[in-house]
Amino acid sequence: MKYFFTGAFLILVLLISFFGYKQNVVDVSSLPYDDEQNGLSDQIIIHFSHVVAENTPKGLAAIKFAELVKEKTNGRVIVQVYPNGILYNDKNEMEALQNNDIQMIAPTFSKMTSYLPTWQILDLPFIIETDKQLQDVLTGPLKGQLLAELDELNIKGLDFWSNGFKQIASNDFPVQDVEDFQSLRVRVMASDLISKQFSLLGSTPIITTFDDVYYEIEKKNIQAQENTISNLYSKGFHKYEKYITLSNHGIMGYAVMMNESFWNDLDDELQQHILDALQEMSDWQFEMSIAMNKSGQQELRALPNVFLSPLSAAQKSAWKERVTPIYDTYKNEVSDSYYKLLIEEVNRSN
Ligand code: LMR
Repeated sequence: MKYFFTGAFLILVLLISFFGYKQNVVDVSSLPYDDEQNGLSDQIIIHFSHVVAENTPKGLAAIKFAELVKEKTNGRVIVQVYPNGILYNDKNEMEALQNNDIQMIAPTFSKMTSYLPTWQILDLPFIIETDKQLQDVLTGPLKGQLLAELDELNIKGLDFWSNGFKQIASNDFPVQDVEDFQSLRVRVMASDLISKQFSLLGSTPIITTFDDVYYEIEKKNIQAQENTISNLYSKGFHKYEKYITLSNHGIMGYAVMMNESFWNDLDDELQQHILDALQEMSDWQFEMSIAMNKSGQQELRALPNVFLSPLSAAQKSAWKERVTPIYDTYKNEVSDSYYKLLIEEVNRSN
C-alpha cells in the first residue's frame, strides 16, 4: 500500500512537470518579443583580428569602427573584434585574411614590407617629424598608391590608422648616444629596412612577433626595442625595459584591410557604409592616438622605476648621420618615385 501511494505521487509530480513544461515551450505567444533576433539570418559578421591590447590606438579604433558600422548598417553588419592576438599573430594573420578565415586585420606598415617592399617607405627614419606631417602623409596621395598595391595580394586596402612615433625602450641602460647601440640586441618588426637601420647603428636586430616580445625580454634574448609609448605601456614592457628614450625616430601606423572577395560580395550600399565609417572616424583616430601616447607617457613618468629621457639635438643628428645610407638604399633599390612623393608631402605639410 505504501509503495502504491509513493508511486502514484511520483507519477502525479511527473505529469504536472510535463504539462507545465509543454505549456511553456508551446505557448510562445506569452514570450516577450526579442527584436535582437530580427533579421538575424541576414546579418553579416566581419571577424577583425589584431595583435595589440584594447586600450591602444589600434584597439580603440577597431572598437569605434565596429560601433559605427553597426549603427550605419542598422545592425546588418556586425564587426567582431579579437584583440591581443587571441586568434592570429603577426606570422599567421595575413594567411588567415587571404583564406577568409578572418575578414579584417590591421598590421603595421612594417609588417607589410615582406609582401610589398615599397611599403618600406614608411619605415624610413627622421623624415616625418610632426603630428601634422604624420596625418597629412597618412591621409594623402601616398596612402592611395600604397593601398592600391594590395590588390595584387587579393586584399582590399581600406584605410590607414596611426599610432604616432616610435621610441627606444631598453633594459640595462638608457640608449642616448649612438655608441649605446653598439652590440645591442634590438627587437624589430619584420622589415628589412628596419633591420638595416639597426645594423648600421652597430646593433643586432632580432625579428620577433609582437606576442613573443615580452617572453624574449624576460629571457634576456633582447635588450631593447623600438615601439610607441602606447604599445610599451599597454603591454607592461616597462617591468623590464625601464629606460625609455624619447627619440621619435620613426612612425608606426596600420593598414586597415579586408579580404577582397568578402569585400566584393558586399553590396554597394554596405561598402559605402564601411567607407563612411572609416572616413567619419579618421580625425578622431589621429587625435586619439596622440592623446593615448601622451597619457601613456604621463603614466610611465609617474612610476618609480621607469626613466624617460629625451634625445638632444646632437644625439639625434649623430643617429641620423649613422643611418644616412638607408635613404639611398630605398631610393636606389626600391622606389625613387615613392621617396620623392614622401618628401614632397612632408614639405607641403610644413
Ligand atoms: C609591434 O609588433 O611592435 C607592433 O606592430 C604592434 C602593433 O600592431 O602595434
